[in-house]
Amino acid sequence: MSVRDREATAARLLRSSLDHSYEPAIDIDWDAPLAEDLWGIPQHRSSLYGTALWHDLTEEQRRTLTIHEVCAVARMGLWFEIILMQMLLRYAYDRDPRRPHIQYALTEIADECRHSIMFAKMTERYGVPDYAPRVRTHQLGRLFKTIGAGPAMFAGALIVEEILDQLQRESMRDETVQPLTRMVNKIHVTEEARHVRYAREELVRIMPRVNAAERALANYLTARIAYVVAKNLIHRDVYAAVGIDPAVGHRAAQANPHHREMMRWSARKLVPFLREQKLVGGPTEVLWRKAHLI
Ligand SMILES: [Fe+2]
Ligand SMILES: [Fe+2]
Repeated sequence: MSVRDREATAARLLRSSLDHSYEPAIDIDWDAPLAEDLWGIPQHRSSLYGTALWHDLTEEQRRTLTIHEVCAVARMGLWFEIILMQMLLRYAYDRDPRRPHIQYALTEIADECRHSIMFAKMTERYGVPDYAPRVRTHQLGRLFKTIGAGPAMFAGALIVEEILDQLQRESMRDETVQPLTRMVNKIHVTEEARHVRYAREELVRIMPRVNAAERALANYLTARIAYVVAKNLIHRDVYAAVGIDPAVGHRAAQANPHHREMMRWSARKLVPFLREQKLVGGPTEVLWRKAHLI
């Protein structure tokens, strides 16, 4: 991957932000009626697709499940966006705000702030519960957002951004999917493409300069984040919305070969890049495998 000078990249990203940004409060028609016969995500991306449980659901229940699943994934994104905003704020606090690189960090915080509101409003509009991460995940996030920095901050951002990007990019083009989901995804995909570039280039710049201990720590934290994100991507309570016991639904999804394949597909660009940066590989790779991301 070719990498520009840090400030040149940031200047370009700032210009692109001016030309291609959205204000979801205005750019989404929140009062538009929902379509009766459309899906929350493409049905083959449901975590239960192809299982016996899926087979037993009616068509309408399947559609309902996918509406809850799109909101669950957005809630995982929102959880991480709040973590990332706090880490980027601390990053900017220590640096010269005249630099484009720091002005872009501030721009990214502003993007994530609008995204979090957008995901919350989408969930409200679909009439879906708040699928907040479970207590342990919530507390791990609290620790990470308080102390996370350096390579693990950029790698963590990439994990969430690239997995969501794969899922959202596909579903924004799918005509079986609700227009609300498609518009939310289009906005997110457009603005996140810049965040991905910012984080990827920064990792390429900083990884050659970290020492062995720092690299080992970043490699471990990256694997832990990937594991937590993958295991929590679909909140287990979504299954209750279609009368399936959450523990039973969760077990079926985790064992579903189709869902495992989807997880690996979602990480297909992320993993080779992080491997090049030595953030994937070695003993921690077992966590990536357990998360079905490799
Ligand atoms: Fe975002
Ligand atoms: Fe982002």
